[in-house]
Amino acid sequence: MKLGIIGGSGLYDIDGFEFMGEESVVTEWGAPSDAYRHFSCKGVDFYFLNRHGRSHGIPPHSVNYRANIAGFEKLGVERIISFTAVGGIRGVKPGDIVISSNAIDHTSGRAHTFYDGGLIHHIDFTEPFCPELRALLLESAERAGVEVKDSGVYICTNGPRLETSAEIRYFASIGADTVGMTLFPEAPLAREKEICYANVSVITNHAAGTGDTKLTTVEVVETMKAATERIKAIVSALPDS
Ligand code: HPA
Repeated sequence: MKLGIIGGSGLYDIDGFEFMGEESVVTEWGAPSDAYRHFSCKGVDFYFLNRHGRSHGIPPHSVNYRANIAGFEKLGVERIISFTAVGGIRGVKPGDIVISSNAIDHTSGRAHTFYDGGLIHHIDFTEPFCPELRALLLESAERAGVEVKDSGVYICTNGPRLETSAEIRYFASIGADTVGMTLFPEAPLAREKEICYANVSVITNHAAGTGDTKLTTVEVVETMKAATERIKAIVSALPDS
């Protein structure tokens, strides 16, 4: 099995994962955010991609999502697990990990489809995440002894600014539990390529207006860092499924 992992750079030095090399891929949609780092463990080939680039310099609205997904396709990746930092709107707190179960797209102006002309194609996106991969993640988390929430609706904003408190109240009223900036168009592009996709979100902060403190990038980065060992434990348990 070839498994893609999209996340930050802190993820891939996992015990028992053998480094096989870097793959720089060129796609018809341009250059992916970074080279794909290939690791092998118990017969599973992992391809790690840094969504924001090696030096974390690509903001959410400027990521070339099409190139990133097309690059995975070129490598023969059949399943992608995306890791994202999100604000918690309802029923979650900083440090929690959610295996997202549904999603709302609130982005605009992003290159969001491979079917941009020539061919009209509508993917079924009733269920945005692959149920098999979600089940695999839940099993792996359990095996790794990492507590996760098995559902949550992720709303994706354009960023890079954070939300107003009124926006967060509105997002809660339409059913969102978490808010981030990178799930769209990543998830539907994977579906367009028929690559199975699931999301693991780490709650890095209370969404705007729902906590007592002002949001800072430092808080987001520190909480994400603190969750890294638990995330690595989940990834590390995947090959045993
Ligand atoms: N809002 C949007 N994106 C985010 C947040 C947030 O509060 N935290 C981490 N990514």
